[in-house]
Amino acid sequence: MRSSHIFTALIAIAIPSFTLLAQDKVRLTPDNIDEVVASMTLREKATIVVGGGYGSMLAGVFGGDYQAPGAAGMTRGIERLGIPAIVLSDGPAGVRIEPERKGKENKGKTFYCTGFPIGSMLACTWNTALVEEVGAAIGDEALEYGVDVMLAPGMNLHRNPLCGRNFEYFSEDPVLSGKIAAAYVNGVQSKGVGACVKHFAANNQESNRFMNDSQVDTLVLRKLYLKNFEIAIKESNPWTVMASYNRLNGIHTQMDPWLLTTVLRDEWGYEGLVMTDWVAKRDTDKQVAAGDDLMEPGTKSQINELVRAVKKGEMDERYLDISAKRVLELVVKTPTYKGYETSGAPDLEAHAKVARTAAEEGMVLLRNVDALPLRPNCRVALFGMASYSILPGGTGSGHVHRPYVVDLADGLKLSGHYVDESLAEAYLDHLKKHPAKNTLMTRMFGAPAAPEMSVSRAMVEASVAESDLAVLTIGRQAGEGGDRKLEDDFLLTDDEQKLISDISDLYHAVGKKVVVVLNIGGVIETASWKDKVDAILLAWQPGQEGGNAIADALSGFVNPCGKLAMSFPVNYFDLPSSANYPYDYHGPNTMVDIKRLPEKPKSTIDYTVYKEGMDVGYRYYLHSDVEPSYPFGYGLSYTSLEQTEPQFSADGLRATVTVKNVGDVPGKEVVMIMAPYLRGFAKTALLQPGESQTLTVECAE
Ligand code: GLC
Repeated sequence: MRSSHIFTALIAIAIPSFTLLAQDKVRLTPDNIDEVVASMTLREKATIVVGGGYGSMLAGVFGGDYQAPGAAGMTRGIERLGIPAIVLSDGPAGVRIEPERKGKENKGKTFYCTGFPIGSMLACTWNTALVEEVGAAIGDEALEYGVDVMLAPGMNLHRNPLCGRNFEYFSEDPVLSGKIAAAYVNGVQSKGVGACVKHFAANNQESNRFMNDSQVDTLVLRKLYLKNFEIAIKESNPWTVMASYNRLNGIHTQMDPWLLTTVLRDEWGYEGLVMTDWVAKRDTDKQVAAGDDLMEPGTKSQINELVRAVKKGEMDERYLDISAKRVLELVVKTPTYKGYETSGAPDLEAHAKVARTAAEEGMVLLRNVDALPLRPNCRVALFGMASYSILPGGTGSGHVHRPYVVDLADGLKLSGHYVDESLAEAYLDHLKKHPAKNTLMTRMFGAPAAPEMSVSRAMVEASVAESDLAVLTIGRQAGEGGDRKLEDDFLLTDDEQKLISDISDLYHAVGKKVVVVLNIGGVIETASWKDKVDAILLAWQPGQEGGNAIADALSGFVNPCGKLAMSFPVNYFDLPSSANYPYDYHGPNTMVDIKRLPEKPKSTIDYTVYKEGMDVGYRYYLHSDVEPSYPFGYGLSYTSLEQTEPQFSADGLRATVTVKNVGDVPGKEVVMIMAPYLRGFAKTALLQPGESQTLTVECAE
């Protein structure tokens, strides 16, 4: 063979192997992502757009060598290319990972995470700076415990009070919801950890959530159900978006190119990654083609399906290249890719203070007829199981393994008050007889509320002489995977109604006050009983510091400054959406002024028609002759705060308002620019008596 042929032969062998060698030399960096994608095999591309499975979530229970056992999911790595697997963890009220880890290196260590107030409570603070602090604390715990992306915030609009996950979500209004979500995301991402706005979109019920078809007019969709996501995405640029389980106008959001590419990317300019919610396989090729970049939790069959679809020409490999690129663009931003040395020891003490402040500012004083604040060293007859076993948060993926939880009974004692011991004993004894279930589900996703104890009139009578006033806590639990019921849930139980009547009769007979604390995750009926009591404090599900925060507010150590982020209707059937929402109402429990009992909702299991259009929350009340029990934006204070009329800038995009504290205790105020819908808001600092503050409010279009 001529030497030139040998030379050519050698070159022919050398180039591919050199290329292979060169390919082996391609290691992921932020600057060579296109090159890395180009060097990937088809199977490698299909691999990185499919999550790493349930292993990390279940590792907390069944063991397994994972970076953050208990985290909801991961991506898959490719060693050859220097692509690590990254960690994705729930949830909106705090990092949800297992509090203990196996392995001798973790001996004696714990990995508890701060339990923050629920989303609805954060929204009721109307304080974006504070919500950003909450996000930053959560981001810090994610960083130090080895989590790269927080699957939070949950931000679907409160279309109807019965949605089981409203506790995780913010509001009935898209501007408030979007701004609070943006603050949360900016906080989390300030720590170099990603956030994930979810569940995109129109995921407003839990009934049949994997398949239910939300049928929404496009204009209503854009002005309400997409609007809050648009605000959050444009004002915080979350690293990721989670496409919801449900269908939207006939197509699963997770494979809807109009939603995930036309709206999200082409119109809003979003450049981050879209992941699915945690569903088993769907039409994986259609999902990727629609702009869904990461299939979570991920199954090997999805990898095979993608490879097959490309090979059979059913899917253009171009879509896989785009999604693989987005996965790598996410990976290179993460602490794991950067080799961050986690401490495993975030400052939980400092974060507990943030949780307590957020709870204090998210509480809403709904009623106060000369009852609050409590005098020092009050003798309190404390009723209601939730007084002794507070509900710090909702159930499902939003659960948190908190280091501790402060109940109201403890909080009141720590604030110098006395809690009636015989009542406390009866409740604690009842609690002991009905311990919280300890199953795999309750361990991973949180426990239901402890069963309420029946209280006889005689028991109430026996407490009157021993106490200065009565405090009754009404508790309600709700969670992912199921919607709430009307009776015994949205409506008070007959026992609760009777207890309120007994306590009010007997305490008012001797001139003593009655206070109700609402430890709830979602709106309940209030109109039938609110005038029987002297004060109502909406404490939501306030996180691990709940008992202290509620006691601070009741005692006047803090002045409640929360405002409702959602309307409380007089009765459920006032709400236009009640005609098209899954509910099982078999009568009675107490509801007043029922004007109409709509016929059984049309199939709100297979599909839900958002027939009410824009008439959600206060948007309905604005033009209706029906009044709510407590309106959107409502909240009392222990002081009086006056606001001037807003002065608008020429372009109408800014409004200036001066707030003055004309009362005799310090307080904060929220300025809301309603024209006629919420256009913007701002919150004052703590104003001393006589002090004023001028706020300039940015007004959305
Ligand atoms: C759940 C939830 C979602 C959560 C995910 C991972 O089903 O819908 O909010 O982040 O799965 O746990």
